Amino acid sequence: MPLDIVVGAQWGDEGKGRVIDLLSGRANIVARYSGGDNAGHTVTVGDRTFKLHLLPSGIVHPHTIGLLGNGMVINPATLLEEIKQVREAGIEINQDRIRISHAAHLITPGHLALDAAREEARGAGKIGTTRRGIGPAYTSKVNRSGLRMESILDPDLFLAALSAHIGDVNHQLEALYGAEPLKSEEIIAAYRVYGDQLRPYIGEIGALAAKALAAGEKILAEGAQGTLLDLDHGTYPYVTSSTPTAPGALVGLGLGVGSADQVIGVVKAFQTRVGEGPFPTELEGELAARLRGTGENEWDEFGTTTGRPRRVGWLDLILLRYAVRINGISELALTKLDILSGLRTIKLATTYRIGTEITETLPLGPADLAAVQAVYEEVEGWSEDLTGIRSWEGLPQAARDYVSTIEDRVGVPVKIISVGPERSQVIQR
Ligand code: GDP
Ligand code: IMO
Ligand code: MG
Repeated sequence: MPLDIVVGAQWGDEGKGRVIDLLSGRANIVARYSGGDNAGHTVTVGDRTFKLHLLPSGIVHPHTIGLLGNGMVINPATLLEEIKQVREAGIEINQDRIRISHAAHLITPGHLALDAAREEARGAGKIGTTRRGIGPAYTSKVNRSGLRMESILDPDLFLAALSAHIGDVNHQLEALYGAEPLKSEEIIAAYRVYGDQLRPYIGEIGALAAKALAAGEKILAEGAQGTLLDLDHGTYPYVTSSTPTAPGALVGLGLGVGSADQVIGVVKAFQTRVGEGPFPTELEGELAARLRGTGENEWDEFGTTTGRPRRVGWLDLILLRYAVRINGISELALTKLDILSGLRTIKLATTYRIGTEITETLPLGPADLAAVQAVYEEVEGWSEDLTGIRSWEGLPQAARDYVSTIEDRVGVPVKIISVGPERSQVIQR
């Protein structure tokens, strides 16, 4: 059996956790391949809701094995806290069920402090990061001065390397940002304990994954963030520092190019974004408030990781076509269709206007979005509540037309339609 890759087709928070939970019923291995605890993936089963930041969402299914890939950056404090919470919810976590790549990088308090200092220094030009130390941790990696998980295996060398890293960070904090230095001894004491707790989970996961594929097992790779936050292909510089797009799954798990089968793109029925950066279909006012929700419901548009209200807008089909191309998306999972119920009409951006010109493509990719104006197609809305519907035929005609319009304009089938956060609230075609 092959590797299937689930990616976010927008700016993150598309409902990847919800879709992974659905698909991992049939997977042997579930694997996170990029990012860190900037991610927040929600899985709702019955009346229980799990919020996963580092563990793969498919771990909620007791039969799966979870991998944390070499493409990730891992804050050990968050990971251990998450393991504790998931265990308390009755899910078994042990060194046979969870394996962490020896080549994943550690996030330290130094990276958190640098993330905050750099955001402050950017002022009005800030990126709006999650302040989880993601950018600085990947900077250490690319700079070849990062701390890899494998360093934990030799406690003395690990703590010496950590001490040198904190010294280096303190130099930067004081010299570049005029910030307070960190207390090295406290960090070293904490990381000694984290190291002892995480050591049994560390190994070479690429070999394990390849062996599973060769034995006919199925691996589901769980993307974090989204296509438009990709370091290379997103709305640079308003991006994250990793490769959340589908090729990142191969690099981030150590698998060959021929391994991948389906690429499932998760797309929300409208568009959201947290943090700064261009957003051509962004809405303000009453309509925005209507799509965002008040925060009363678990699924309203407030960040899973930071609680920030998300910016909202109409679905952007130009960007969705781009996501299909960049990832090689073979099918789409459309989420939150239920939220559009009750709107008289719904808009979809189909082209952009740049000056006097109408275009269907992005001249220089999404980094160039600031200058464009979205041009919309308007379709009929529907008033029916969709949350109890479980079949394509059961959907109101206008909702079916909305889905068909997306398929038609993007050229990829919508195989999954989610009409609520709970595992069973889905239509599979
Ligand atoms: P992720 O980061 O892509 O995994 O998405 P998040 O978990 O951050 O945000 C998606 C939110 O929408 C979560 O609160 C989900 O429970 C919720 N959700 C997912 N699918 C649906 C759906 O079809 N309808 C509704 N109402 N909520 C959904
Ligand atoms: P999931 O996996 C939505 C955004 C941040 C910011 C930018 C850079 O839940 O979809 P970073 O902390 O990564 O340096 O921030 O990326 N961002 C996300 N937005 N969902 C996410 O993850 C995100 N992870 C990062 O808001 O704009
Ligand atoms: Mg999220």
